[in-house]
Order: sequence, then structure tokens, then C-alpha cells
Amino acid sequence: MKIVVVGGGSTYTPELVDGFARLRDTLAVDELVLIDPDAERVGLVGGVSARILAKQGHPGRLVTGTDLDEHLDGAAAVLLQLRVGGQAARHTDETLPLMCGCVGQETTGAGGLAKALRTVPVVLDIADRIRKRAPEAWIVDFTNPVGIVTRALLDAGHKAVGLCNVAKGFQHTFGDWFGVDPGRVELDHVGLNHLTWERGVRVDGVEVLPRIFAERGEQLAERVKIPIEVMRRHGAIPSYYLRFYYAHDAVVAEQLVQESRAHQVAALERQLLQMYADPALEEKPALLDQRGGAYYSEAAIELVAGLLGAGGTVQVANVRNGDTMPFLSPDAVIEVPCRIDGAGAHPLPIAPIDPLQAGLIAHVAAYEELALQAALYGGIGRVEDALIAHPLIGQTEPAQVLAAEMVSVNRDYLPWA
Ligand code: G6P
Ligand code: MN
Repeated sequence: MKIVVVGGGSTYTPELVDGFARLRDTLAVDELVLIDPDAERVGLVGGVSARILAKQGHPGRLVTGTDLDEHLDGAAAVLLQLRVGGQAARHTDETLPLMCGCVGQETTGAGGLAKALRTVPVVLDIADRIRKRAPEAWIVDFTNPVGIVTRALLDAGHKAVGLCNVAKGFQHTFGDWFGVDPGRVELDHVGLNHLTWERGVRVDGVEVLPRIFAERGEQLAERVKIPIEVMRRHGAIPSYYLRFYYAHDAVVAEQLVQESRAHQVAALERQLLQMYADPALEEKPALLDQRGGAYYSEAAIELVAGLLGAGGTVQVANVRNGDTMPFLSPDAVIEVPCRIDGAGAHPLPIAPIDPLQAGLIAHVAAYEELALQAALYGGIGRVEDALIAHPLIGQTEPAQVLAAEMVSVNRDYLPWA
């Protein structure tokens, strides 16, 4: 089986490759192609990746390249993990909103909109090229903002599923707490990408959320940075990303005096690339744990394995809503447990969502729809309206200021500006 990774020069890639090596019984990959516009970088990342495979005795071939079209023939799946504009553009996403007292985050709020504006046209172009040369290939999208990008792909008729590591991370944490393999942990995970709650946690079919609240309150609060009494009252564990809503002003105050995540990551990347250049390095370095991508390889491999072979598995993925959340448009993209088979990822039915969560989900889903319109058709008015629709912006004056600024700093990446 041939898998192509777009954005393969990412410093995250060794995590993915390590997963391919470890989980070869789940997914037998014989060719892994890393594509990246930066030849030097994909060369370094490809070098360490090949050594990781070899060290673990994986028989697969590792190929690197800069031209996607040359490498698509026969691909069974294409993983998208690109970042348009790199960490420099991310830095503007994380800092610009602060001028209006709004949170600066790469996927949430105004920063997420700027990222969507840059990313959607690039991803749609890549997907068209995939459709031409490998029409059967599944597109697995890790590229943020995953909800908006996945919706863009599905609206354009592509064979795509969106993926994130947040649910996998919880499965691992709870698995560790209960001393079981993460595969035995089932989540009642609902919401939109980076706007999710765990409303239930079952270990071997037994509900353990009350035990988690009773026994692990402190660790839980530490992990998601939300007060434990709020979680207990709501009967749900929000993802870390809910902090940008529930503690918005506190986060802004922190961000005003902290280095941006983009700058921290850029420094980490310099170190990682130096390590990857060392021919003696044959495993993913511990330093990679300081990035946010833990376990994304597992999520990708299990999804691709379900789509291409075994099927019948259940996994959290980003898919069309259909009638899963009746208060959203059927076309919205949601993040819920899905049954995976050769025809795709199918959302499992869920229990009704409390107003406390449903209100925010509906609000952000409406924003996401407008954000996609802005990314597809452009126009400062559409950008402004997406910001007005976002619960973390909402006011016309900051929306106007931020729209003008974000279009100006991202001009080179916006086909319409
Ligand atoms: C988590 C999120 C990803 C995001 C990453 C950022 O893994 O689920 O969507 O890309 O964090 O990590 P970074 O190390 O780049 O800050
Ligand atoms: Mn994610």
C-alpha cells in the first residue's frame, strides 16, 4: 500500500513514521512518500524517517519529493498536514487578535479564520490534483482548521475525512489512569473540531466518568485547565481548546506577556531539524513530545486501516453532520465517534446535547460556514461577517479592524486580495 503525506517535511513527521513502524500489523505500508515544497527540509525529515523504519525492521520504502503530481499514481491514501505560511504566518494569527483584546490562537477565533483563508484554496487545489491522478485515494485531513477544511473538501465532492488527535489523547490518558490499553476506552465525544466535550468514558463497556470526576479531579483540571467543579456540574470534560472560551480574558492576559506558541515551536523546530540531520538518530526524539501532535500517527493509521481494509472499527473523526445534531445544518462538519468502513466514516447516533454545549456548537458552526464562504469567495465583507458571527469576536468594530489587518498581512496568500 502506498501512502502520500503532503507537508511531509513537518517536524512532526517522525511521530507519524514511528507509528507506521510500530503499527505495521494494523496497516501494511510498502511505500511512504513525503512531499514538501521545501526540498532541504523534506530531505532531513526523510532521512531520519528512513532510519526509523530501518531500525524497526520495517520493509517499506521511503521516498521524498517536492512535486506532488509526480508521486500520486497508485496512492491509497493521502494525508494532508501542511501549514500555509509556516510558523511566521501562525505568529501573526496568534498575535494580531490581541490588538482588539481577543484571544490569539491558530485554530480558534480570529487566528483560525486567517488560517482558514490561507489554507482552503491550497488544500482544494491539492485535492483536485489528487482526484486527477489517484481518484480512488482517501484524503485524510489533519490540516487545520480541520472542521472548515474538511467541509471545504466534502463540499467539493472529495473522498475526505478530517482527523485530530484530541480524542486519541484522552483515550490514552484514561487508559493510563485505568491501567488498560487505550483501545479499550470508548468516548462519548461530541462537538466540532477543537470544540469538543467527553460526556462519557467507558472502559470495557462500563461507564467510568463518575469515577474520573471523583478520583482524578486534580489531574483532570491540570490537563484541560478548566475548574473541576465546572466539569462535574456539567457532567462533561471539555477539551483544552474550550479554555479559549471559558477563560478567554485570562488567556488574553497571559498571551500579552508570553512568547507566541509559533515562536516557541519555531525554536523547537530548529533544534529538531538539527537532530534529524544527525545520521546516528534512528528514533523519534523525546523533544518531539513538546509539540502538540502526540498520537496523531495512531489516529491516522487506524483510520486509514478502517477505510481501506478491515473496517467495522469505531473512531472519532470529522464528518458531515447529517441528522446527528438536529440543531445544525446536515452539511455542517462535526467531530464525533464514527463507524469506519470502505465507504467512509459514518457518525454514530448520539444522545441529545445539553443547551450549554449545543448553544456554543451552533454558534461556532455558523461561524465556520461563514468562514468557508469567506475563504472560497473572498471579500473583506465576508471576512468581517465571519468575525461578527464568532462568539469570541461578535462586535462590529473589532471585526472591522481585525478583518482589515488580517487581509493586509496575509495578502500574499489570498488569491482574491
Ligand atoms: C494539537 C491539535 C492539533 C494542533 C497541535 C498544535 O495536537 O490537535 O490540531 O496542530 O496541537 O501543536 P503545536 O506543537 O504546533 O503547538
Ligand atoms: Mn487538532
